[in-house]
Amino acid sequence: MSMSMKLMSAVLMSVGIGFAGAAWAANGTADVPGSVAEGKDFGCGAKGQKACPMQGWMKTVMQSATTSGDGAKIASALEYVASKPPPGMPKWVAISKDGAEKAKKGDIDGAKASCKACHDLYKAEYKAKLRDAAF
Ligand code: HEC
Repeated sequence: MSMSMKLMSAVLMSVGIGFAGAAWAANGTADVPGSVAEGKDFGCGAKGQKACPMQGWMKTVMQSATTSGDGAKIASALEYVASKPPPGMPKWVAISKDGAEKAKKGDIDGAKASCKACHDLYKAEYKAKLRDAAF
């Protein structure tokens, strides 16, 4: 390959990557910090704003229960989550109840798997659409 060909393909590649990145961001699937995903300002959660309702609850109640390592506390926090299923998130209750059952049996790692399961499945969507809802 000649020098100019190499240069040409390098330029094409970086244009391609730049384009893919822009399309990804425009889809609104990026888990952007702050509350402006999909252009919506929730009045909470962004820099300089108060925490959003569920975000604040997770950071205080859920986080401290988890840090305590106390299965009963983690179970009751997860049961609270289970009692508040948002619309359009059909696995919300089952994931939370499963974690609560494990926490009750002292399986803290099993309980923590429910955090990740829900976060992977619903956190981005919740942050994009529902984060100003009461919790
Ligand atoms: C059934 C769903 C669900 C379960 C189970 C769940 N979470 Fe969450 N969590 C969320 C959602 C949705 C958010 C995003 C709220 C927001 O930012 O508005 C969140 C946010 C958080 C945050 C705030 C993160 C940030 O960047 O602001 C922490 C901390 C957190 N969760 C910890 C936990 C822990 C620890 C567990 C398990 C013991 C857990 N969560 C279980 C749904 C869940």
